[in-house]
Amino acid sequence: MRPQSPRPVAAGSGHANAAPSSSSSSAHPHATPRRQRGPRPACAPTGPSAGSCETVTMPFAPPVPASLPASVEVGLGSGGLPVVRVAGRQGSAEIYLHGAQVTAWTPAGGRPVLWLSATSRFLPDAAIRGGVPICFPWFGAKAGAPSAAAHGFARLTEWEFVDAQEAGDDVVLTFRLGDTPATRASAWPHRFEALYTVTVGTRLALALRITNLEPEAVTFEEALHTYLRVDDVRDVRVAGLEGAPFLDQLAGLTEVPGASEPVRFEAETDRIYLGTDAAATVIDPAGHSVTIEKRESHSTVVWNPWAAKARSMSDFGDEEWTGMVCVETANIRGDLVRLEPGQSHTMTAVLAAVA
Ligand code: BG6
Repeated sequence: MRPQSPRPVAAGSGHANAAPSSSSSSAHPHATPRRQRGPRPACAPTGPSAGSCETVTMPFAPPVPASLPASVEVGLGSGGLPVVRVAGRQGSAEIYLHGAQVTAWTPAGGRPVLWLSATSRFLPDAAIRGGVPICFPWFGAKAGAPSAAAHGFARLTEWEFVDAQEAGDDVVLTFRLGDTPATRASAWPHRFEALYTVTVGTRLALALRITNLEPEAVTFEEALHTYLRVDDVRDVRVAGLEGAPFLDQLAGLTEVPGASEPVRFEAETDRIYLGTDAAATVIDPAGHSVTIEKRESHSTVVWNPWAAKARSMSDFGDEEWTGMVCVETANIRGDLVRLEPGQSHTMTAVLAAVA
């Protein structure tokens, strides 16, 4: 697709349409976000549940599409980071440009589906803890590069917001990430384009399209690291992975044969199911179930840190592990993606609350 020309949003503006228009027409869609002539103050909440505001400065004005539908606005979120807020007819959502990370989705008449830690950092150089981090171009530790950031650079990088449209009752947003001097100096130095399409409605559809811009083939891993809210993970089951063997990350990637029963949680759980295209359903006996259907994804990761690991993580509340589970739509390890020059690949996850 061809993104529209974006324009900068005014720091502190609740809506992109309030942004000054003088600088919009010449902005290139793939341009680096332009810097303001000096910091501009804004009032922004400082945490996921913060009720008060403090004055923050927005370090730059991110590019946004030339026009936005009435259901979409751009403003400042936690930590003063730019956030896209969607209030569609069939669902609402928040997406941070930092990592193009969806941090909230609530279908109309339903309850919030995604989990977000109350202790998450919202810093330009840290990953947001919760929602749907995009892991790309590697998953976990990068083989042969022990100092490389876990889960790749995509979740640590500011994406461009290139398009927003209403389509029937849905709102469709597109974000873009391309290679930069920093990514080309990383453990995965290739030229690429990533387009991420987020469709907000009765369902949340997430489509990550990667194009290889190198003159030779490249390989990469990817995951939509979906954190789901549950009432108590100890009562939850994940159905759909029956019969699929998995690699146990807590036992040196030992391969464990598939089970006939849905996954239950009785301790720290960190599993990579390979070679499975199946939809997974998180069954919460409190009555809030979520199904994740996927396309062009052959791996599924299931993770809950349990008590001790949660305590060891500075951006994870000590008791929060009971209220979440990750079911991640992925292509990792033996399922990694290989693209020939100019080729693209799109991995899609579609979440539906079935409460
Ligand atoms: C999961 C991995 O996907 O992400 C776990 O399987 C990891 O091993 C978890 O602990 C969280 O990773 P991070 O880098 O966000 O703390």
